[in-house]
Amino acid sequence: MNTFEAIAARVSVRDFSDAPVEREKLEQIVQAALFAPVGMKRYDSLHLSVLSTHAAVAKFTALAREQCGDPAADPVHNAGALIIVSGKRPDEHTEYANAGCMIENMLLAATELELGSLYVQGAVRAMRGTAQEAKLRALLNLPEGFTPIGSAAVGYCSEQLSPRTAPKNDVTKVDYID
Ligand SMILES: Cc1cc2nc3c(=O)[nH]c(=O)nc-3n(C[C@H](O)[C@H](O)[C@H](O)COP(=O)(O)O)c2cc1C
Repeated sequence: MNTFEAIAARVSVRDFSDAPVEREKLEQIVQAALFAPVGMKRYDSLHLSVLSTHAAVAKFTALAREQCGDPAADPVHNAGALIIVSGKRPDEHTEYANAGCMIENMLLAATELELGSLYVQGAVRAMRGTAQEAKLRALLNLPEGFTPIGSAAVGYCSEQLSPRTAPKNDVTKVDYID
């Protein structure tokens, strides 16, 4: 797949299979995150945590369920792995933009590797300031000063990951100014 093909093939997957994600593929996905642009080169203000098995991801899901009070909630849809991006400056727009660049790179890399992927921010954001956030920090063994701000779920799926001819988005207006 070339870049445009991967962009056109990426789609949010919300039904992952039980097949585990190979460590080699996870490492390639993480490498893609490390190639992302980062505002003012503040690489030090970001941290990646890789929940690399269904069992590890299930621990995140359990915290999300605890946080929202719904024992059936599955914000990561049985993903085989979840890469959580944490930042030192969680209240700055740039930190979310940095996380977004890393996460999109990971989603595209997963697509290239024929893995489904999903940008998962809601469940991570919902834990901010809650007891579950403290438990998540402990689960991730997160270094002092970092706050989880977003994540990429990846895994095998039955979804067709072939390039689409048109984007879902036929709403956003575009102006060309000459
Ligand atoms: C910043 C951001 C946060 C998102 N958070 C979530 C989320 O928490 N849960 C979820 O299911 N999808 C989430 N998504 C995925 C969007 O819902 C999805 O990208 C959108 O519906 C378009 O569909 P597509 O990804 O298949 O093109 C998020 C996407 C972005 C860019």
